Amino acid sequence: MNLVRSTILAAAGSNRLRRLVSTAPGTRSVVERFVAGESCARAVEVVRGLAADGLNTTLDYLGEDTTDVEQAEHTVRTYLNLLDQLHGEGLAPHAEVSVKLSAIGQKLSGRLSVDNAYRICAAAEQCGTTVTFDMEDHTTTDATLATVAELRRTWPWAGAVLQSYLRRTEADALALAGSRVRLCKGAYAEPESVAFGTAHEVDLSYVRSANALLAGDGYPMFATHDPRLVDILGERARWYGRKQGSYEFQMLYGIRPDEQRRLAGEGETVRVYVPFGEQWYGYLMRRLAERPANLGFFLRALASR
Ligand code: FDA
Repeated sequence: MNLVRSTILAAAGSNRLRRLVSTAPGTRSVVERFVAGESCARAVEVVRGLAADGLNTTLDYLGEDTTDVEQAEHTVRTYLNLLDQLHGEGLAPHAEVSVKLSAIGQKLSGRLSVDNAYRICAAAEQCGTTVTFDMEDHTTTDATLATVAELRRTWPWAGAVLQSYLRRTEADALALAGSRVRLCKGAYAEPESVAFGTAHEVDLSYVRSANALLAGDGYPMFATHDPRLVDILGERARWYGRKQGSYEFQMLYGIRPDEQRRLAGEGETVRVYVPFGEQWYGYLMRRLAERPANLGFFLRALASR
């Protein structure tokens, strides 16, 4: 992993820096580029705008590593409220939610996060939509996949996420090829014992895992902004005889919005990952770590005013 990326990811865990960044005058304009506001109402407004452009969405209420039962409960209630609002506005079939198990109590007790995940899935079913469970650092991979497997016994549409930087992922993709699976590169600082060390290896692993998913009868969700991978994935989908709509592309809110619309215009199903909420710091730091150009933009905005 390069030095800039590992330094920014380390900063993501610093409380001192979190306070400094959160109170800096130029922060808001940077946050607004990647985060759809702090409230459910604002997030729903953003979803409505994206839907008008033919884009599906998956909403993430920001927050992770909860060590407080009340905070976990607050997160679950926010998701239930959000699902209600999406349903009420007729947006639910095209807007789903993304949930981090660590935000709903995984670090407090495995059972608490599973019970909370059941509540969110039951609400999503009532609203006619789905849930995808984000993947966090590699120490949680087994537990998260086990939870999603358990949920899938009741809700076969419960989605898992695989990260191609992990050496294990091609095998996981083969095992999960009959399911709804989001494939991404991975956003955490991982040791080489479990993760590939070069971007090239991560890309090769991505394509091998994508092949495994496309060969199965599940629903692959390709989460990447990488133009080369997007081209390869389109070609691989055709090679496997996949019709448009039997897989989808996913990108993050605020990143390559023109490409999102171009793909949708070509008939592809595109889903935008829309994060919202007050706890945007860790999320923003991971986005900055991915792209040094964003760091320059961020520092200029902080220095302004
Ligand atoms: P990468 O960052 O390597 O960029 C490749 C190329 O894409 C760049 O060279 C550039 O051409 C283009 N590009 C990237 N960013 C750009 C920008 N800002 N503007 C213009 N071009 C840009 N991670 C995780 O660990 N767990 C998870 O659950 C998820 N969930 C998730 C959902 C969705 C919908 C997405 C899109 C991503 C995630 N991720 C994730 C994050 C993911 O693992 C990864 O960190 C980012 O998507 C960045 O990787 P890329 O594949 O975009 O390639």
